[in-house]
Amino acid sequence: MTGPHAFRAELLSVPEDPAQGGTVRHHADGLMVVEQGVVVAFGDHADLAPRFPGVAVERLPGLVVPGFVDTHIHYPQTDRIAAYGGQLLEWLERHIFPAEAAFADRGHADAVAGFFLDELLRNGTTSALVFATVHAISVDALFEAALVRNMRIVSGKVLMDLGPESLRDSVESGRTESEALIARWRGRGRLGYAVTPRFALTSSDEQLAGAGDLVAAHPDVLMHTHLAENMGEIAAVADRFPTALDYLDVYDRFGLVGPRSVFAHCVHMEDRALARMGLAGSSIAFCPTSNLFLGSGLFDLARADAHGVTVGIGTDVGAGTSFSLLATLGEAYKVGQMRGTGLDPFRALHLATAGGARALGLGGRIGGLLPGQEADFVLLDPAATPLLARRTAGADLREKLFALQILGDDRAIARTYVAGHCAWRRPA
Ligand code: GUN
Ligand code: ZN
Repeated sequence: MTGPHAFRAELLSVPEDPAQGGTVRHHADGLMVVEQGVVVAFGDHADLAPRFPGVAVERLPGLVVPGFVDTHIHYPQTDRIAAYGGQLLEWLERHIFPAEAAFADRGHADAVAGFFLDELLRNGTTSALVFATVHAISVDALFEAALVRNMRIVSGKVLMDLGPESLRDSVESGRTESEALIARWRGRGRLGYAVTPRFALTSSDEQLAGAGDLVAAHPDVLMHTHLAENMGEIAAVADRFPTALDYLDVYDRFGLVGPRSVFAHCVHMEDRALARMGLAGSSIAFCPTSNLFLGSGLFDLARADAHGVTVGIGTDVGAGTSFSLLATLGEAYKVGQMRGTGLDPFRALHLATAGGARALGLGGRIGGLLPGQEADFVLLDPAATPLLARRTAGADLREKLFALQILGDDRAIARTYVAGHCAWRRPA
């Protein structure tokens, strides 16, 4: 479909953060016009329809919001979601490293990548920053599958020369394989590359320095890692780097803290480190279901806000317990309650869409359904279950959105559109 086509529905997007004065764009009877995968108009049907005579209009029954952006997830951990027992370091050894070793096999990687991306679409997620494994072919498998689906996926080979024997690269192989992947995939489809040291404990100083060199050499790549998730992890980092000011400072010393850096978790952070992140323009992936599942702790969104740090939402599957960003927002609200702040439902939607896009350096392209942005969107069904139908009957927009976040999950995703094309449709 190359000519313009239009969707008539209730439309909602939150392109700017309401915590910083951003307004909610809502059109109860809206029209969104799409041409060649890009939004050309988004507004009231009554205003826009006369401007687009003759354009085919499809009615969508439900609430249209931007496609969700998952700022931190591990595709090779798909088959280890809901693995019982242990906090971070023990859970990695017991459940995760053995599962990741299987990605030395390309056929296995292809099969999991296909299932994983389809699961994202089923959950309304159209863009994601994704951990692969140490194997370069795990990235090829994911990118090839994403290319077929035209999804916005950012990923990279994991650097871990101090990892377990079955998952170790070397300073040299980590660098050359990363360079080769960047060269092989640059400019293809809607893909992006992230230099991905697993975390400070699994890379040598030389490899961390090499990661910094890669980020400096390639202005179009992101840096993606874990930071300050678990107390045992933090103690081990302090042991190994006794002169570092804190955990963030370890990454900083190797040139890994900048505006293209995305740090997952950041549960236990000093004010100094948050201030440094704010100044550097780095982003945090807030992963509430994972932080609860592994007993890592309660992320402090208000403190990140106070330091001006960009925040997106991550599911962090397999430590995360759901692919659904709706369900993840429900848990983010509960973490906010434990912190005494809650989480406004419009802000929550912003964090899971435009906020996440900004964290990934894609704020101009996706997340807001603004004219000129890519037409990735989701049709939400506020009556997806008997309970949701009962709770949202007669509800106003805010109540309906909140109910979807607290009670909703994949069942509430009626359709997912990628660049204006329907990529997932819930069976009748
Ligand atoms: N830190 C280092 N590796 C991992 C991982 O795979 N999952 C989580 N949650 N934290 C990590
Ligand atoms: Zn993770």
